[in-house]
Amino acid sequence: MPGVRWMIYTGTINLIVYYLLRKNIILVVYISYWMKIKVRMMPGGERSLDVPKGATYQKLLEKLKVDRETVIVFRNGKPVPEDEEVCQGDIKILKVVSGGSTRTIYWNKKRNTVMLIDQTLLPEKFKVIGCATVPSLVEAIKSLRVRGAPALGAAGAFGVALAAFSHKGKNLRGGLKKSAAVIREARPTAVNLSYGVDRVLGVALNGRTDNEVRKLALAEAQKIADEGVEINMRLGRHGAMLLKNGETVLTYCNAGRLACVDFGTALGVIRAAVQQGKKIKVFACETRPLNQGSRITAWELMQDGIDVTLIADNMAAHVMRSGKIDKIIVGADRITRDAVFNKIGTYMISVLAKEHKVPFYVAAPMSTFDLKRTEKEIKIEERDGDELRYFAGKLIAPKKVKVYNPAFDATPLEDVSAIITEKGVLRPPYRF
Ligand code: MRU
Repeated sequence: MPGVRWMIYTGTINLIVYYLLRKNIILVVYISYWMKIKVRMMPGGERSLDVPKGATYQKLLEKLKVDRETVIVFRNGKPVPEDEEVCQGDIKILKVVSGGSTRTIYWNKKRNTVMLIDQTLLPEKFKVIGCATVPSLVEAIKSLRVRGAPALGAAGAFGVALAAFSHKGKNLRGGLKKSAAVIREARPTAVNLSYGVDRVLGVALNGRTDNEVRKLALAEAQKIADEGVEINMRLGRHGAMLLKNGETVLTYCNAGRLACVDFGTALGVIRAAVQQGKKIKVFACETRPLNQGSRITAWELMQDGIDVTLIADNMAAHVMRSGKIDKIIVGADRITRDAVFNKIGTYMISVLAKEHKVPFYVAAPMSTFDLKRTEKEIKIEERDGDELRYFAGKLIAPKKVKVYNPAFDATPLEDVSAIITEKGVLRPPYRF
């Protein structure tokens, strides 16, 4: 009887999907018996939509604001085209990943392009865009479509691979070096960007033929991206030891999976603690002027079902004074011999932490350390004044007012209670 067979088939598939979801293995959209589409990004982050009669997947994906590049539709075990009608029992696997999420940045093997989640659109829209040329990737870096130190490391790495694949004409090596310089300069403070660029360039230039250069560049970039995820998970496990069940953590900016390839640094520590079964609450500062805290951290944690409360930056002192915060964890863009560079406002939080005796932790991979330099030698990126004059496209200050808009600040190392790395937790006095 085809009806019974169909029910057994879809029932089994739904059970498998449920199991994989529980295990955090995949990110799926599937169509249940009831013709509802369910989207689950991470545990707790499920959304449900009715499937209109005759809907195609293309239409559904538009409605869900999910990108098509990352979607495979399975019917009876075979991929089906996007323009076909949705059927009961169909399963769409968006991406098979280790951490139960889609990566922030990755390489599209078919098109030889760099794919990245456009973070400027979050939380309103989840969209993955493709960069097919070095200028388009540089634009994405400068406009913060891809941002956060480790994600910039991967962007730099894939950027050199992109330069190798998109180069036209002779002298691939010369072209590669030029493109590397342009990518490296796109944002000056996060050291991971130049780390990614230089590591891939160094390996790629060993290639004897143009083909070998391209192959080596891509393999090394992929290695950096994969390593990054592994490193964050290790870092998260070390950091989780610092958090007790029931504690509340304040974080600043976004040092989550969106600032990395996956998992996150500061938010990776929280994620790891939650995975160990600890109940952790998070206070996320909104992080003016570009609101990485409210737009990205709050969204990302909610996707994971982690308890997050949003506050404006000028509420940080009050929440600490009223005893609501047990620990502070932030990320880093660069750690020199004497200071931690991170999103503008981090220093202010560290001063408040000292005053209120709240431990102030920095979570960062070893690739963020720049121990040959000191604070004074680092260039702090200054961004366009319109980031303060406008909010969501609306003028909120006199159009011609002078603006000072540094994107980062430096916190002296002596004010950092511990640095959480993939190698373990470093404590003061820091001896590098
Ligand atoms: O300007 P951004 O959004 O790239 O700044 C990002 C930060 O300051 C992050 O806190 C830092 O890169 C750490 S990311 C793990």
